[in-house]
Amino acid sequence: DFMSEIMGLSVLEKQIKDKLQISNVIIVPGNSDKHEWVKQELGKACVGYLKQIVKSEITIAVTGGTTMAAVADVMTPLEKDSNYLFVPARGGIGEKVENQANTIVSEMARKTNGEYRLLYVPDPLSESTYQTIINEPSVNETLQQIKSADVVMHGIGDAIKMAERRKTSESLLQELKEKNAVSEAFGYYFNEYGSVVHKVRTVGIHLEDLVNINHVITIAGGTSKGQAIASYFKQGKTDVLITDEAAAKQLLRET
Ligand code: G3H
Repeated sequence: DFMSEIMGLSVLEKQIKDKLQISNVIIVPGNSDKHEWVKQELGKACVGYLKQIVKSEITIAVTGGTTMAAVADVMTPLEKDSNYLFVPARGGIGEKVENQANTIVSEMARKTNGEYRLLYVPDPLSESTYQTIINEPSVNETLQQIKSADVVMHGIGDAIKMAERRKTSESLLQELKEKNAVSEAFGYYFNEYGSVVHKVRTVGIHLEDLVNINHVITIAGGTSKGQAIASYFKQGKTDVLITDEAAAKQLLRET
């Protein structure tokens, strides 16, 4: 019944906290692999968490993906008389428009009466273009806002699934398989030990920047992401993991 379900989830939350060594875990019922609405429940849990931590002046950096798009779907105004700025955490990493961080921040800003900035960065980016573009004043200004974000919200994906979904070359796909990439976040690919095996060249937040950010919120659910979440947390610093029951149960089976 409902009560034992809730109790069960709090036991599961405790087990995940112990396993990943993090202080905050929120688990919603269900499996986002099977039901799209579970992603919206992850989104609602995220909005609820944001409401607890926001101050009136705040910059929130957001990554792309269908989970973050679901957070935008269910976003509601966070607090009265406040000044929110939503920025994409990183430039393009091969996603379709609806899953791009640029699209998601504009939607979040609209729903919260906040502001947003976009990163117009060609995707993929060559090394010489990268060097030029980070010195463009408009890009540079947004980059400074990204680096000084108070909150970062990001998803985690299964490495090969993400690589296939994005404009990834056959040779890179092969390389990711050879290097046993299992997870992806922020355009970084990790193996099961949490080591970076590949990084997509784009501007924005780098893994090293996360330690300077007050609130890092990780949102990922579904049985298929259990291994990816375990891998990411081998190295990742996060203040809260928002996940679903199915991913949490799978996560407990991972080493
Ligand atoms: O970086 C992680 C991926 O963007 C997650 O994508 O939410 O569509 O599974 P997803």
